[in-house]
Amino acid sequence: MKRTLFLLAAQSTILICNLAALDNGLAKTPPMGWNSWNKFGCKVREDLVRKAADSMVQSGMKDAGYQYIVIDDCWQVSRDKDGNIVADPATFPSGIKALADYVHARGLKFGIYSDAGPKTCAGRPASLGHEMQDAKQYAAWGVDYLKYDWCHMDNQNAPAAYSLMRDALKQSGRPIVFSICEWGSNRPWTWAPDVGNLWRTTGDITDKWEGKGEKFGAGVMDIVDLQAPIGYAAGPGHWNDPDMLEVGNGGLTTVENQAHFSLWAILAAPLMAGNDLDAMTPEVHDILTNKEVIAVDQDPLGHEGVRVRHQDNQDVWVKPLQNGAVAVVLLNRGTELQTFGVKWEEIGLKPGQKAAVRDLWAHKNVGEFKESFSAHIAPHQAMMVTLTP
Ligand code: GLA
Repeated sequence: MKRTLFLLAAQSTILICNLAALDNGLAKTPPMGWNSWNKFGCKVREDLVRKAADSMVQSGMKDAGYQYIVIDDCWQVSRDKDGNIVADPATFPSGIKALADYVHARGLKFGIYSDAGPKTCAGRPASLGHEMQDAKQYAAWGVDYLKYDWCHMDNQNAPAAYSLMRDALKQSGRPIVFSICEWGSNRPWTWAPDVGNLWRTTGDITDKWEGKGEKFGAGVMDIVDLQAPIGYAAGPGHWNDPDMLEVGNGGLTTVENQAHFSLWAILAAPLMAGNDLDAMTPEVHDILTNKEVIAVDQDPLGHEGVRVRHQDNQDVWVKPLQNGAVAVVLLNRGTELQTFGVKWEEIGLKPGQKAAVRDLWAHKNVGEFKESFSAHIAPHQAMMVTLTP
């Protein structure tokens, strides 16, 4: 399908370009859900997945828009004599179909993980040579979402490998969101919009504000910097994916968790919680269920925010919304309190035009402004506002 994409670029220049986009009717707004990896890694078990589904409903996350419960790596252990993928009987004794039924019974959707190579990143059997067979199996189990990784693929052709699974999912006859995970290695933003519904843009997120992980991976600031230039590729049905959330996993302060969530929302990123939903603090709960911030992420126009300023530890992000308002994130990356803001000409408003400012974390109207808006921003704080002309 051809679609026209309007981009609000830095300094409010409107660019227009045409991109082919996958048309499976899914993920018209960025997918929201939970994935087992960031918290449980390879120790995932069916009881933990059931608890995550229960907590998603009881905590109000489902009401806030979260939908998918996704098991990441390590659910699979072997193939049977016919080549069918087999779930680990020690950790998933009831089988995947029963788990999918449990998740569906709570009004949620169910996701699973595989890899384009012979083995997953954790060394479990993966889908190379079994693409159609696996896609049919997932459909029979009631899978609604597939995350498809890239370990053991070295220099293989990524567009071809991912297109193979895209076509297999289509032939399975069940609508399945296709989540590409090749860590940005083959510049997926240039080819993935007509292959997957979302594609990872970077290596694995690490539960820290900035810097590298112990073995690999990158902190929240590093991930954001990598994604900043490629927002043009995202839109309804096809999203850049800066990886799952680390909100609530302990490596970030409350202010940093708010900044992480604000940035993912202005990036129109998939919001896949990665914490233990059964053991959330009230602060983490309130961040993950902030409906005003989520509404920016889920805005139907589907623009990814643009960074219009990145200097002196001041980052300013702007995202036009369907109702004519503009969402703005003012991020202080430094270690001292700073006062800064935006001028109307930076965000596509006319100088002199009245705009009502609302603070999406304080849940308060701040007032009407005519030329610019600025505020005191604490270290690592992201102030998130909407400006409504
Ligand atoms: C890769 C992916 C992660 C996770 C692990 C599982 O590192 O990028 O998100 O799926 O594999 O082994």
